[in-house]
Amino acid sequence: MLTREENETLTRVGRGTPGGEYLRRYWMPVACAGELTEDKAIKAFRLLGENLVVFRDKSGRYGVVAEQCPHRKASLAFGRVDEEGIRCPYHGWKFDCTGKCLEQPAEPIDGGFKDKIKQTAYPCERLGGLLWAYLGPEPRPLLPRWDVLVWEDGKRWIEKHEIYNCNWLQPTENSVDPSHLYWLHGDTAHLAPTVDHYEEEHAFTPFEYGIMKRRVTPGRKPGDAPVVDQHPLLFPCTLRHVFRERLLEGRVRHNLQIRVPVDDAHTQVFVVYFSPNETDRSPADGDTPWEFFRIRDDNGEYRLDQVLVQDAMAWESQGAPTDRTQEHLGVGDEGIILLRKILREQIDIVRNGGEPLGVVRDAGKNRLIEFEVVNERIGILAKEKKVA
Ligand code: FES
Ligand SMILES: [Fe+2]
Repeated sequence: MLTREENETLTRVGRGTPGGEYLRRYWMPVACAGELTEDKAIKAFRLLGENLVVFRDKSGRYGVVAEQCPHRKASLAFGRVDEEGIRCPYHGWKFDCTGKCLEQPAEPIDGGFKDKIKQTAYPCERLGGLLWAYLGPEPRPLLPRWDVLVWEDGKRWIEKHEIYNCNWLQPTENSVDPSHLYWLHGDTAHLAPTVDHYEEEHAFTPFEYGIMKRRVTPGRKPGDAPVVDQHPLLFPCTLRHVFRERLLEGRVRHNLQIRVPVDDAHTQVFVVYFSPNETDRSPADGDTPWEFFRIRDDNGEYRLDQVLVQDAMAWESQGAPTDRTQEHLGVGDEGIILLRKILREQIDIVRNGGEPLGVVRDAGKNRLIEFEVVNERIGILAKEKKVA
C-alpha cells in the first residue's frame, strides 16, 4: 500500500513532476518508421503528457516538434513537409528538425521576426524499425542498442497496440509479477491454475539495465529437474521476453514489450519481435513491417484468447492510475515492492542531478546489448537465440 503522495510521485509523467523528470532521461519510441510514408510524412502522438508530431522531411531527416504552431496554434499534424522541414497548414510558417523557424510567408523577409521564434523540438532517431524521441536535458544519452532491435540474422516485425487506458507503472509492475502467469494466462499457456505455485522460487536482481526476474519451478513429478525462466525488466518500461509460437511449429519469438507513458492515464505499447529461425531476413531497418494490434473486437469486447490482451484487461481494470492506497500486498508481491523501492531511489537520483539505471553513454558497450534470457520450459538458454 502506498500513500496518495507516493502513488503520485511514481505515476505522474508531466514535465516538472518527479516521475516525469525521471522518465525524461530515457529515449522512448513514438511511432513505427513504416508509419511515415511519402504521402503521409507526419504523425501526431502524445508522449509524457506532451502533444507532439514526428515527421520525415524530403531530405530524409526525422524531426519531433510540438504539435501546436507557435503562430496561432494550428496543428502541424495537418501540415506538409519539404526538403528543409515541416510547414504549418494554416499560414505556412516553416520549421526545421531543430525547431528553427525558416519562413513566415506573410512577414517581411528582412524583419527578423522569424529569428525570435523557436518551436519546441526534440531529438529523434530510428532503430529497430521504430522512431525514438528524447525529451530530457542535454547531453542526451545514447539510444540503447538492445538485441531484439539490432540482431540481423533473422526476421523482425512490430506490433503497435491500441492505446491502453492505464498508467505506465501498471504494465511495469506486471513485469515483476510472476504469480499472475498461472491465473491470467493459465488457460492459453496450457498451465493449469494451481494454488501451490508459491513453491516456486522467485528472485529479482537489480542489474545494469533494470531488474532481472528469475523463476525456478519445481519438477512436476518427484525426480523431475526444476525449470528456470529468466528475463529482465529494462528500465523504465520495457519487458524483454521470449516464447515459442505454438501454432507455428514452435518458432522462437524474442520480443521487447515497450510500454510508453502517453500521459498519467494512458500507455502506448509497441512489441518488437525477432525470430532467429525464420529465413526471410528483415528488410532494411526503415521498412521493418508493422501492424496495428487491437485489444478489443468490433463489439468492444476484449480479445481474451490473446495473452497480451489478458494483461491489458487486467491493467485497464485496475484503474488509471490504479489507487495504490487501497491495495493489500503479500509475499507474492515481493517483486513489485522491490520495483517501487528502486524507482523511488531512481527518481531521487535524478532529482539530485544524477544518472538513473539503464541510461547508456558508453558507445563501446552500446554496439549490441544482449541479455541473459533463459526459458528452460521452452528450451531457450542464455544467448542461444538460434534454437529451432
Ligand atoms: S497557425 Fe501556423 S502559421 Fe499560422
Ligand atoms: Fe502477463
